Amino acid sequence: MATEHTEHVVVVGAGQMGAGIAQVALQTGLRVTLVDVSEEGLAKGAGRIRAGLAKLVEKGKLEDAKRKAAEANLATATRLSEVKEVDFAVEAATENEELKKRIFQELDGVVKPGGVLATNTSSIPITRIGAVTKRPESVIGMHFMNPVPVMQLVEIIRGAATSDATYEATRALAVRMGKTTVVSRDMPGFIVNRILIPMLNEACFALMEGLGTAEDIDTAMKLGTNQPMGPLQLADFIGLDTCLSIAEVLHKGLGDDKYRPCPLLRQYVDAGWYGKKSGRGFYKY
Ligand code: CAA
Repeated sequence: MATEHTEHVVVVGAGQMGAGIAQVALQTGLRVTLVDVSEEGLAKGAGRIRAGLAKLVEKGKLEDAKRKAAEANLATATRLSEVKEVDFAVEAATENEELKKRIFQELDGVVKPGGVLATNTSSIPITRIGAVTKRPESVIGMHFMNPVPVMQLVEIIRGAATSDATYEATRALAVRMGKTTVVSRDMPGFIVNRILIPMLNEACFALMEGLGTAEDIDTAMKLGTNQPMGPLQLADFIGLDTCLSIAEVLHKGLGDDKYRPCPLLRQYVDAGWYGKKSGRGFYKY
C-alpha cells in the first residue's frame, strides 16, 4: 500500500498502548483519531501523547514545528461511528475477547474498502477476531511492545484468511513508524510472549521457592544476562494481571504443564497487586 493510502489512522483504546501507538503514528505525519468510550480516558491519553511529543522536542529529537503539526493531526472521538474515511485501524482496547469482537464488527463499517483492521492483542487468536467481520482478509495482528515510543519491535500475525495485501500494508506502516517487524504464526503468545512469559513465570517460582530475594533474582538476570530490567521488575512493569492472563492463555492453548501459572503470581493478582500501575507488585511504587 502506498503511503498516501494510510493517511488516516484510527486507534481504538486510549490507554498506555493506544496512546503510544497514536503518538508514534503522529510523529510520522499521519492523521490520527484516538477513540475511547471514556471521555476521561481520552483526555488522559491525549495528554500522554502531548507530553511524549514535548519530551522529544526537549531532547532535540523532534522539531517544534513537527510537534505542532502532529498535535494538529490528532482528533479524538468517543464513538467509532463518528469517525469517517479510515484507511487503517489499530485496536488497542482492553484484552477482552467479546469487547474486541464488538469493536471489529464496528470497524467493519468504518474502515474504507481495501483498508486494514489491525489488533494489538497479545493473546487472542487473530483468526477468531477476523471471523466476526465480513472481511477477514483485511484483519491482522500488529503487536507493539511497551513502551511503544521506545521499543523497536512490532510482531505481525497473519490470521488464517489474512491477505498478502493486508500484510504488506501493515508491514509498510510499521516500517514508516520506525519499527522492525517479525512475522509470527497465529499461535498462543505469538513469539515474544511465548518465550518471555514463561521466563517471568519461572522468576515467580524462583521467588516462591526462596531461591533468592526479589532483588537478587532481578540483579542476577539483569547483570548476568544483560537485560534492561530484571524479570520481576519487568513483570511489575507489564502488569501482573496481564502476565497471569497471558500465562493462562499459553497453558490452556498449548496444553503443556510447563506453562502453569505460578501460584504466587495468582495470589498477588488476587490481592490486587498488579505491579507498577497499582502501586504494588513484587516491589512497592
Ligand atoms: N514512553 C516514552 N519514552 C520512554 C518511556 C515511556 N513510557 N520510558 C522510557 N522512555 C525513554 C526515555 O525517555 C529514555 O529516552 P532517551 O534515551 O532518549 O533519553 C529511554 O526511554 C530510556 O529511559 P530511561 O533512561 O528513563 O530508563 P531506562 O534506561 O531504565 O529504560 C525502559 C526504560 C526503556 C523501559 C527499559 O527499562 C526497558 O527497555 N525495559 C524493558 C521493556 C520491555 O521489555 N518491554 C516489553 C514488554 S513485553 C510487551 O510489551 C509485550 C506484551 O504483550 C506483554
